[in-house]
Amino acid sequence: MGFKLAHFSDVHLGPLPRGTAFQDFAPKRIIGVLSWVLSRRKRHLPHIASALMTDIEDAHVDHVAFTGDLVNVAAAAEFKQGAEWLKAWANPDQLSFVPGNHDAYVPIAYDKSLGLLEAFMSNDMRNTMVALVEPFPFVRLRRNIALIGLSTAQPQTFSRVGGTVGLTQREALREKLKVLRERGFYRAVLIHHPPAPGLAHPFRALSDAAEVAGILKDEGADLVLHGHNHTETLHWLESPHGPVPVVGVPSASMTTRSHHPAAAWNCYDIDRAKGKWQTRLSIRQWQGSHFITTKDFELIKP
Ligand SMILES: [Fe+2]
Ligand SMILES: [Fe+2]
Repeated sequence: MGFKLAHFSDVHLGPLPRGTAFQDFAPKRIIGVLSWVLSRRKRHLPHIASALMTDIEDAHVDHVAFTGDLVNVAAAAEFKQGAEWLKAWANPDQLSFVPGNHDAYVPIAYDKSLGLLEAFMSNDMRNTMVALVEPFPFVRLRRNIALIGLSTAQPQTFSRVGGTVGLTQREALREKLKVLRERGFYRAVLIHHPPAPGLAHPFRALSDAAEVAGILKDEGADLVLHGHNHTETLHWLESPHGPVPVVGVPSASMTTRSHHPAAAWNCYDIDRAKGKWQTRLSIRQWQGSHFITTKDFELIKP
């Protein structure tokens, strides 16, 4: 029996709660609030994100992957609102979350931010690295599917919207990809930023994209899901264990009136036949009032 995995990203949930600009004052947060009020709030519409969640619900998937940017300026009130929104839609056992750069827009205490989302990041596989800051990378095992969640969220300077995986997570990623491959699991990696050089503008990119891509190429992966670019992308990495599809998805709340593609989510049908994994991808995109399937194809390297 196949496994259905939904992927969405970059909700950028609005509206901003009252007082967000001045809560735990930080100059960068004021700029972020201005950018939201003047421009971003017109593109990221919460009713579209809610319609997307309903569309996922109607598809009766087995699990959902959400690759970050739940909030906008990482204010405590935003995380409270975001956690409530997410919990209203999804059972934490059936949705896995990794944070994006907007979820670490400025430094904020863990218990007021990602700590509220901990149930969506629980770990089924103990991290053996002593120095590792939990919960990343987490591994969530669902039947014969392993979801490996990485954090790239680190507060950035004014001029950068990048991120970093870091040495400790990278070493753990290598170990987990190897062990899970040997145990016969389908390995889906969840990461906010595109995990290879050249897939994002330098000021938007992962600082260690080359190292992360190197690990994916060495150890292989069956699927890598990311957000951040707010657009639909598909790239392939070469690996001795088979080609690695790296798939990006548009923002989950994007209106049709934007220079970015309208909101979309991806549905993966994963199956095993004759000793090989097969993945079929359907793209569901917002048309202004509802979602339709715009593409449906086997995920095979051309
Ligand atoms: Fe984003
Ligand atoms: Fe982002």
